[in-house]
Amino acid sequence: MARRKKLYEGKAKILYEGPEPGTLVQYFKDDATAFNAEKKAVIEGKGVLNNRLSEFFMTGLNNIGVPTHFIKRLNMREQLIRQVEIVPLEVIVRNFAAGSMAKRLGLEEGMPLPRPIVEFSYKDDALGDPLVPEEYIIAFGWASQQDLDDIVALALRVNDFLTGVMYGVGIKLVDFKIEAGRVWDNDYMRLIVADEISPDSCRLWDIETGQKLDKDVFRRDLGSLTDAYTEVARRLGVLPSNVTHAPKPHVIN
Ligand code: TMP
Repeated sequence: MARRKKLYEGKAKILYEGPEPGTLVQYFKDDATAFNAEKKAVIEGKGVLNNRLSEFFMTGLNNIGVPTHFIKRLNMREQLIRQVEIVPLEVIVRNFAAGSMAKRLGLEEGMPLPRPIVEFSYKDDALGDPLVPEEYIIAFGWASQQDLDDIVALALRVNDFLTGVMYGVGIKLVDFKIEAGRVWDNDYMRLIVADEISPDSCRLWDIETGQKLDKDVFRRDLGSLTDAYTEVARRLGVLPSNVTHAPKPHVIN
């Protein structure tokens, strides 16, 4: 089979031309990066887990009427998606203080926030994805006020869905990042959830123990990232049968 044409390669994924106009194939790599790619590693199996987990979350969102780019999973590492025009923003939703917010404001990690807070970073690796106010976004034409209202509404629906799903398996959704993409149905433009939803782009803490089950395990050298992601996949019942990193069985004395 002729290899598909590569259209874009990012830090964790590759986009190929899709089988039909308006579609793309999204390939999940095993590469992990942090701190704007200052820290890098190849983590065997990460791509397979994130492909499954993003499928799981995006399918759930599609099923409750939150539109996403996801069409179907093709194989272990690839999924068919709708082609979108990515809005150049990282849309971050926070339920508890952590990461850059905790650092910027001197807050203790884990402090509950009075309400979910949505913030935006401008997607530009050379600048390190700086946090930007809505005023910049509108003034520089990255999105309109109406787009931002739609994106916030989408992000809050994703937050409610993910919070509930994760709570059901004993995991606290601390924060996450999504990206929004534009699609056109005739002349009508809509914003949908794009990119990926996986432990690479969320903070997930075990409710009982506080154990981190997300990319902070890699960022902060807290142990095996594959074990953490496998645990999330296992709890959600989406572990592919041929992933060999399943948790070791308990030894009963
Ligand atoms: P932050 O606290 O480092 O700003 O991260 C907030 C959330 O966004 C967290 O869940 C991790 C996610 N995130 C990404 O998905 N990509 C990124 O490049 C960064 C910096 C954070």
